[in-house]
Amino acid sequence: MRTSTRSRNRADRLHTVTSRLTSAIVVAALCATGGAALRPESVEVRALSATPVGAPADETVTIDGEEYPNPLRLNDGTAVTTTAQWEDTRRAELLAAFRQNVYGQSLPEPTAQTFAVTSTDFDRVTRKVVTITVTGPEGTGSFDVTMFVPKLAGKPRGTFLMIDHRGQVGGDPDQSSGFAPVKTITRAGYAFASLDAGDIAPDDSGRYRSRMIDLFHPADEELPADAGRAVSAWAWGAGRAMDYLQTDPDIDPARVAVVGHSRGGKAALWAGAQDTRFAAAVANDSGSTGAKLARRGDGGVGGETVARINASFPHWFPPTYRAYDDRVGSLPVDQHELLALLAPRRVVVGSATDDGNADPEGEFLAYVAAAQVYELYGLGDTGLPSTTWRPPTDQGFRGPAMSYHLRSGGHGLTAADWDVYLAGDLFPSSAPGAGGDAARGRPGP
Ligand code: GCU
Repeated sequence: MRTSTRSRNRADRLHTVTSRLTSAIVVAALCATGGAALRPESVEVRALSATPVGAPADETVTIDGEEYPNPLRLNDGTAVTTTAQWEDTRRAELLAAFRQNVYGQSLPEPTAQTFAVTSTDFDRVTRKVVTITVTGPEGTGSFDVTMFVPKLAGKPRGTFLMIDHRGQVGGDPDQSSGFAPVKTITRAGYAFASLDAGDIAPDDSGRYRSRMIDLFHPADEELPADAGRAVSAWAWGAGRAMDYLQTDPDIDPARVAVVGHSRGGKAALWAGAQDTRFAAAVANDSGSTGAKLARRGDGGVGGETVARINASFPHWFPPTYRAYDDRVGSLPVDQHELLALLAPRRVVVGSATDDGNADPEGEFLAYVAAAQVYELYGLGDTGLPSTTWRPPTDQGFRGPAMSYHLRSGGHGLTAADWDVYLAGDLFPSSAPGAGGDAARGRPGP
């Protein structure tokens, strides 16, 4: 597969998203902080039109002929025209809405947390098994993160932190499954780290609370209706792994991408949306409640609806999400807004042509619609040759902060997908916002 970076005019880029909101371009002046992470420090608004700051915004944007919530509208109706409004107000509003209505409230930060590291040397790689021990009000538990760090003169080019829902990553640095081609990844100069989602919350409706959730909730009490379930816990686990990565001298914490496939991709997006220490989130075939727009229903291709995912996997999301089973049009958010919560950090969406359950067109449309928010930073180029479905297959497209590819074939994380992610230069040193708040050491709001 090839990776291309293309520049197109703004009208083409935003073709699919027709917003009646008059837009403004915000130019982010970049400033290095602490020598490592680059963050947009100041903004200058170049009004494309006469939209005054504080003007009202339309409630919806049109995506593929349908109305969707407008990410650039504050709850009080005001148009978001600056990165300051986005970062100080709108992000928090959207996160609160996703927590209340989709993923549930996250587990809190541990009251105590320790890391125990066992390192093993191999020819080209150091393997570290990091036992993260977490204490909450109801007890103490632990889980492992397995890391493979290539031996290089400097630090790795970046780190892929995988939420492994298949328990498939073993200890062999030469393992080369399509799902986790550790050898290929480390030879390309990247570190690979992985946590087993089942060690955070078993993927089982009867047992999902048993590992981490019950450290924070009394085991003999029902969880509150809006408390996060398994997907939320997996995302939280990625945050705890990030707590460790920030302390590891062999890793650049400003260059960590959280990556997941399918249900792991849903969790990776939610982790990246909430925790701005992640420089990127990679969502491979994430589908329903991942990158796929909820309001599309089955998308005409048998895509998984909100009702179906909640019925099939009652332990993934809270009852508050189930309340929208038969009325997705009332959801206060949709998934283009989840992707937008990565801005200005890199969002990476991978789809597969024959993955009807994930509705690849629904993932594509959400990706394109998220560009509206990236455009606040002048980063709205999706890299796509056209924003109309369907894009060329087996080619990586890359804008300054957004990446997309459509692999031919069915559901799966394959060597071909990894080829795109590894060739995709996800951690360029000049990337605006790369590293998010990594240098500050705490997750963003
Ligand atoms: C099922 C489910 C999807 C999920 C997938 C997976 O197919 O319907 O929502 O993404 O499993 O995790 O592989």
